[in-house]
Amino acid sequence: MSKELRIGVIGPGGRGRIAKEAHLPEKGSKVVACCDINPKVIDKCKEDYGNDVFFCTDYRDLLKQGLDGVIIGSPDWLHEEQGMACIEAGIAIYLEKPFAITIDGCDRMLKRAKEKKVKLFVGHNMRYMTIIRKMKKLVDDGRIGEVKSAWCRHFINYGGDAYFRDWHAEQRYATGLLLQKGAHDIDVIHWICGARSTKVSAFGNLAVYGDLPRKPERPDGSPYTLDRKNEWTDEHWPPKKCTGMNPRIDVEDQTTMIMEMEKGILGAYLQCHFTPDCSRNYTFIGTEGRIENYGDHPDSPIMLWNKRHGYQLIGDEVYRGDELSAEAKAAGHGGSDYTIVGEFVEHVRSGCKTTSTPQAARYSVAAGYLASMSLREGGVPKVVPALPADIEKHQY
Ligand SMILES: NC(=O)c1ccc[n+]([C@@H]2O[C@H](COP(=O)([O-])OP(=O)(O)OC[C@H]3O[C@@H](n4cnc5c(N)ncnc54)[C@H](O)[C@@H]3O)[C@@H](O)[C@H]2O)c1
Repeated sequence: MSKELRIGVIGPGGRGRIAKEAHLPEKGSKVVACCDINPKVIDKCKEDYGNDVFFCTDYRDLLKQGLDGVIIGSPDWLHEEQGMACIEAGIAIYLEKPFAITIDGCDRMLKRAKEKKVKLFVGHNMRYMTIIRKMKKLVDDGRIGEVKSAWCRHFINYGGDAYFRDWHAEQRYATGLLLQKGAHDIDVIHWICGARSTKVSAFGNLAVYGDLPRKPERPDGSPYTLDRKNEWTDEHWPPKKCTGMNPRIDVEDQTTMIMEMEKGILGAYLQCHFTPDCSRNYTFIGTEGRIENYGDHPDSPIMLWNKRHGYQLIGDEVYRGDELSAEAKAAGHGGSDYTIVGEFVEHVRSGCKTTSTPQAARYSVAAGYLASMSLREGGVPKVVPALPADIEKHQY
């Protein structure tokens, strides 16, 4: 086996916990350093990675630990600053989605990482979900002919808990939830269609969470972070029962986005943060059929209709994603966290091609960012700028 890879984590107290999937000393990769502004996280880091794990509260100290890769799981507005610092230090990066909160932020990282020959990977874990992969395969195999329409209805039953009581609620930290949350779905639509958005427009408003009791501003003005385990509760139902909302809320809790894509494909993405249930429901319509997922768990069915008839709940054919391995089952997000982090580690080791690419991640940010601008200007259509050709074809 080649040398053991040394991995660092920024933000291990939140999403950065996926780094556990990279801590496989017996397979040649080890988490050796963690950074979180919350010093309480140190105990969890020791539990996960051993007592000798290096811990700091300033990410610049983490970058001095002789690392081969860094997993950045900090909140969105920090991605560019911390990603750029890793690039300058020449360390391979796993950057959580969204790539950044602006198009310029993504483009700056793409340009600099190419110049410095740094491996840059964005955590679009939905591409690694078996149900999404199965839908992509059905489309790629021509089972619905040529895809022409792509729609996603996104029902979020934990919206009040997760997105309106901390930094997610503020444009300055997240731009908006069409980008923050929608980056996943926009990417899935682009990936399955094999086409990116060229023009977008959107409508949206703050329909439910705007007038609920709010927390005071923090004395030092810093953003709130939530302890997901202790602060999400089913007692916040109906949604108007939510309390402890963020002091400022200037993002939308329902949005409808329209996408004009390459190859004459039209897309629609509808996001709602106050539904009783929770799932992503996609449909792809082609010249010879339609697919739709009923539920988004690994074992949820995918319906495929390819005969002409009236209403029929069950497809002419029914599919499911591939069976998950035991390790994948034990990890989060329907096994995708295990698969995506494993691919990142292999990418750091061998430079292998990856399923998620930073260029695609940039196009999902670009579409979500411009749709957020569109809805705040009354729905005006926005043209999505293409990447320069050299960046487009570069393998990071
Ligand atoms: N791919 C997915 O399925 C998925 C799921 C959840 C979150 N995310 C992404 O992960 C990121 C983090 O989300 P979260 O909900 O865990 O956020 P969070 O608010 O819980 O913060 C994550 C951690 O970062 C730490 N942190 C904050 N500022 C820091 C700094 N300056 N330096 C070091 N650590 C810092 C926090 O203390 C916390 O432990 C976001 O970008 C989000 O979009 C992705």
